[in-house]
Amino acid sequence: MIRYDEKNKAFLLNTENTTYGIAVVDDRYVEHLWYGAKIEGENLRYLLREDEGPLTLAQKKRETGAFLDCAPMELPETGMGDYRESALCVRSVAGHRASELVYMGYEIMKGKPHLEGLPATWGSESDSSTLKIFCKDALLGMKVTLLYSVFNGSDALTRSVIVENKGTEPFYIEKILSACLDMDDRGFEMISLAGSWARERHIQRIPLGYGRQNVASFKGESSHQEHPFIALVTPGTTQDTGEVYAMNFVYSGNFIAQAEKNQFDSVRMTMGIHPEEFTWKLEPGDTFTAPEVVMVYSEEGLGKMTRTFHDLYREHLIRSPYLHQKRPILINNWEATYFDFDEKKLLEIAKDASQLGIEMLVMDDGWFGKRSYDDSSLGDWYVNEEKLKGGLCELVENVKKLGMKFGIWVEPEMISPESELYEAHPDWAIQIPGRDITQSRAQYVLDFSREEVVDGVYEMIAKVLKSADISYVKWDMNRQLATLGSYALPADRQGELSHRYVPGVYRMQERLITDFPEILLENCSGGGARFDAGMLYYSPQIWCSDDTDAIERLAIQEGTALVYPVSTIGAHVSVCPNHAVGRTTPFETRGDVALLGTFGYELDITKLSAEEKEQVKEQVEKYHKYNDLIREGDYYRLASVADNGYYDSWMIVDKTKDRALLFYVQVRARANAKSRFIRLAGLDPERRYTVEGREYTGNTLMQAGVRVPAEFGDFKSRLIEITG
Ligand code: DGJ
Repeated sequence: MIRYDEKNKAFLLNTENTTYGIAVVDDRYVEHLWYGAKIEGENLRYLLREDEGPLTLAQKKRETGAFLDCAPMELPETGMGDYRESALCVRSVAGHRASELVYMGYEIMKGKPHLEGLPATWGSESDSSTLKIFCKDALLGMKVTLLYSVFNGSDALTRSVIVENKGTEPFYIEKILSACLDMDDRGFEMISLAGSWARERHIQRIPLGYGRQNVASFKGESSHQEHPFIALVTPGTTQDTGEVYAMNFVYSGNFIAQAEKNQFDSVRMTMGIHPEEFTWKLEPGDTFTAPEVVMVYSEEGLGKMTRTFHDLYREHLIRSPYLHQKRPILINNWEATYFDFDEKKLLEIAKDASQLGIEMLVMDDGWFGKRSYDDSSLGDWYVNEEKLKGGLCELVENVKKLGMKFGIWVEPEMISPESELYEAHPDWAIQIPGRDITQSRAQYVLDFSREEVVDGVYEMIAKVLKSADISYVKWDMNRQLATLGSYALPADRQGELSHRYVPGVYRMQERLITDFPEILLENCSGGGARFDAGMLYYSPQIWCSDDTDAIERLAIQEGTALVYPVSTIGAHVSVCPNHAVGRTTPFETRGDVALLGTFGYELDITKLSAEEKEQVKEQVEKYHKYNDLIREGDYYRLASVADNGYYDSWMIVDKTKDRALLFYVQVRARANAKSRFIRLAGLDPERRYTVEGREYTGNTLMQAGVRVPAEFGDFKSRLIEITG
């Protein structure tokens, strides 16, 4: 899969349908040759335009600076004449910002190395291989290793960078991006995922103009607003046609994802840790590892890109034993009660839920310390026995007697100014001495860069988890980082806090899933502010958004599923009028939308009508019937209400193509409308399939489509099974 072409000094990384090429120029520069459709047995060096000026010093010409500003680089640096976005900026102790990487050698190895302290895709010696390219900067004594991995049967490729100080003096990394891709423009458009709280990951597509266009976060989390994913697509790219170059970051903190079109109509696409709020002092002998970027190229449109990400993440990223299991159908009390609950109310909910086939009760925020509103007690991780009379263990046992499991909410990274923990350890909060600490939702952020803070919080939470039979944990994070300062870091390392915080979170999640392997972990961040590939390494599912309205969820789940497997999308049925938008939608539609995710409920089930309770039973049945298919199958986006204004449709096809499920929702009814034909995708054209009692060939269903009637009324959904 990876080979070195000695004659042409080129590395070729082949996946099933793609080639990534790298060349060594003048025995010094590591340049980018090609990324795209598979090309084999060809010398690709002509793509470097080596005979066009400006040329390099080794070619006995003068214009090195100008050469650097147009050559396609694998890891461009600051300070030597490349004025496009750099991927590496290093400051020496003397204060100069420049580096000059010189190629030193390479290693091709089987398997995929682990990235120290960071989540990353993984692979075995038999299903993956890795190229390491070694470079050095002699003046700084800096060694840089570029890592590239590919996987059998996947069209994805991963990149990261390791920097080592082999010198005698420290230096400061002021910027390190993990991936850079230089290529000629093809009229690209840029796709990103944008939104806000309760409106996460809406798909945005804009033409790529000259200059730099980026999405970013320096909020300390991947964020509600922008997302660590971008794709460049050729004009007119659809779900199944057009070329797509995509990058996604396996990281949960600050990021920048950017496309820059320059004077020569070439495009530089980059992704990595955002340099704002980042510097890293590297002492002699120390190493810094930049998080991983996953790159996907598709010449068959966005759908193929999506399925490549989904398969890679299901096969090489998510580690949870629950990944391939039907998750227990849960009911969460948040939208049912908010903070206003006691053990009696929870048991009432559990009792009704258990009779309808719901399998787990999740107790959300408000069970600990003195918390009766969102203004206190974060950090006081012991049970409020005034609220939960008899204690946690008794409550859990009573829930279990109803045949249900029990789950619990925590927010480990936070501390309320009004808490015993803050009284005991005010220095544990992130803060700048002498300044007011920024409050958000009446809380401060704990300094997770400090081991003793992570361990102290972990011990408290672990004690609770050990005290009762707990099957599930929802890990929340309800604010961004600000007033950045750590009592544990010296002045010249304060700039490391934002990044040090993230591996602190990872370390605690790793401890949690190691010590409690039977617990199902769901990540969450005020809804979906940390729905990213980094978190998926620890939890097989993430709460997607605090907006549970079925119609709003169409766009949120569509954007999320553009990159992440539907089995990871936390999705619940909630009450109407919806708490986020006040909309009323049919109960059936709410269920059908939540089925494209983990599925559960978030309402006061004791207040449902008899008819709605019957519908819960039907939804539970549908979940059991379809979840294996939805969780493990291939996802196809057929229509998007964001494009057509009227209807939305997706389908899931079993890997064997034996069976499929079509989802259709008529978002807006139209007067005097006829039925619609929805053209299916992903079926075997030769096979015969049955749809609503009639047989068709796969070809007919994909060319002519399935007929769905026009309905009277908005927000009507349909699930149609296709069997082979
Ligand atoms: C934000 C989450 O997204 C909600 O589901 C809920 O858990 C609240 N936090 C609780 O504070």
